[in-house]
Amino acid sequence: MDYDRQPYRRCGRSGLLLPAVSLGLWHNFGEGKPVETQRAILHKALDLGITHFDIADRYGPPFGAAESAFGRIFPKSLRDEVVVTTKGFNPMWDGPYGYGGSRKHLLATLDRSRARLGLDFVDIFYLHRDDEETPLEETAATLDHMVRTGRTLYVGVSNFSPERTAAIARLLRGLGTPLLVHQPSYSLLNRGIEDALLDVLEQEGVGCVVYSPLAQGLLTDRYLDGIPADSRAAEGRFLTPDRVTPQVLAFVRALSAIATARGQSVAQLALAWALRDPRITSVLVGASSPEQLEANVACVDRLDFTDDELTAIEQAAKEAGISA
Ligand SMILES: NC(=O)c1ccc[n+]([C@@H]2O[C@H](COP(=O)([O-])OP(=O)(O)OC[C@H]3O[C@@H](n4cnc5c(N)ncnc54)[C@H](OP(=O)(O)O)[C@@H]3O)[C@@H](O)[C@H]2O)c1
Repeated sequence: MDYDRQPYRRCGRSGLLLPAVSLGLWHNFGEGKPVETQRAILHKALDLGITHFDIADRYGPPFGAAESAFGRIFPKSLRDEVVVTTKGFNPMWDGPYGYGGSRKHLLATLDRSRARLGLDFVDIFYLHRDDEETPLEETAATLDHMVRTGRTLYVGVSNFSPERTAAIARLLRGLGTPLLVHQPSYSLLNRGIEDALLDVLEQEGVGCVVYSPLAQGLLTDRYLDGIPADSRAAEGRFLTPDRVTPQVLAFVRALSAIATARGQSVAQLALAWALRDPRITSVLVGASSPEQLEANVACVDRLDFTDDELTAIEQAAKEAGISA
């Protein structure tokens, strides 16, 4: 592991440091991806000083496959050098206990995740979504119980509104288990967290690990000459071809010019841009090859922006008709 390759940033007001660039296993670690490629991506991540791996019970396909792949490939001798996360909430099995924010579901899904990962404990357990039908008190008490019973070291939430984030942070603080982190979507094409969530996280001392900072590949050169057969948009499950719009392509072309002047690719510019705010702890990237991952981590070689560059980015968005 090369600990000099990238900076490690403090997660909120906690003791935990996370790498500026982290790896997510949502795609590329399920059925249909060669095991050698999965292994090559994970080992490349370790070489690049990526100490933070983001997983969820559902990631596959089939559900659970990404956790099983990580459990098979990850060298257990490095356990204390990495942060491994998983999540729960989304439907995993049939019946009323197969999903949601109840104590009944969450403890069972975390225990199944730990078995697939081959780990006694995970480092961060996230609520994948808010469950407005379960009392927040029950969910918060379950997260606290997970920490007290050694199943996870820290807890986080994902896709929660600013108001519900503040509410669960207060409940957890009262129980003595601080909310470590929020995981929202954030990119040049999706800037909603700038409205209120980032202020709440700062006030509460909660870190912010953002997902899809490349908008699933849209903020790269991947789609500039059409939709490649091996791309996520061609697969069409989570990124559909209709998202590759003329506006997005015009924006990416304009960003490319700014990136080139900075000595970066458009993907590197997009990642550096997300990291420009110190409240963002880490960007969670996906990668379908070790080469993509290596190129993405190189964004840390130029994280600063001039005011002129930031203005040019805003202008490019306006001219392309992007409302993020
Ligand atoms: N909490 C949640 O609800 C939630 C939701 C979504 C994601 N996540 C987490 O966030 C992680 C990242 O999400 P994401 O995969 O959408 O992130 P992303 O980094 O925005 O997109 C990754 C995809 O972009 C393409 N790409 C990456 N680097 C590239 C490069 N240098 N050049 C060209 N194309 C490149 C690849 O697609 P191709 O396959 O086309 O090569 C890659 O699979 C997930 O793995 C997961 O851990 C969490």
